[in-house]
Amino acid sequence: ESSSVQEYLQSQIRTIPDWPHKGILFRDITTLFENPEAWRKTVDVMVQRYEKQAFDRIGALDARGFLLGSTLAYILNKPLILFRKKGKLPGKTISVEYDLEYGKAILEMHEDTILPGEKVLLMDDLIATGGTLLAADQLIQKAGASTLEAAAIINLPDLKGADRLNAAGIPTYALCNFE
Ligand code: PRP
Ligand code: ADE
Repeated sequence: ESSSVQEYLQSQIRTIPDWPHKGILFRDITTLFENPEAWRKTVDVMVQRYEKQAFDRIGALDARGFLLGSTLAYILNKPLILFRKKGKLPGKTISVEYDLEYGKAILEMHEDTILPGEKVLLMDDLIATGGTLLAADQLIQKAGASTLEAAAIINLPDLKGADRLNAAGIPTYALCNFE
């Protein structure tokens, strides 16, 4: 994104050191949400990028990814599908285990939420190792569908998540980088 937009959004994101574990610099988007102008800019830039692109669904990642995903689904008038941590979805699910920057988790999707051949735009708040978005892409592939792009507010380039995603054939887009 243009450097002025990047810098503005970066300035609205708070950093909390040593949370949830020592050594982690936590990039806290609650301060972005508290500023209507900054949140509107975040949404507007995403809308501009995706309003002319062809895809079938928006896939939002539990939990912080739900906020951006649901807003975009509303504005772009697309079906919203949820990728959730284990045990949250009530219907029949398919699941995949994945690694986090600070631990392991299982991601689930309702097995009938995507049709074969569809294209899904993935939305999360942040790309760290890329493990979460890769797991979502695996579930999409299991359903016989594919990922258009994985979009996030923040990318942490040092953790090479975007590189991992790109190497797996998944294009990525982020509004700002924190080195
Ligand atoms: C965070 C963040 C991303 C993911 C990024 O989610 O919201 O989903 O980690 O890390 P990765 O690129 O290494 O996979 P977290 O699992 O902490 O959940 P939350 O959104 O429920 O807070
Ligand atoms: N998710 C994974 N790593 C993170 C970080 N450093 N800050 C905020 N959310 C994260």
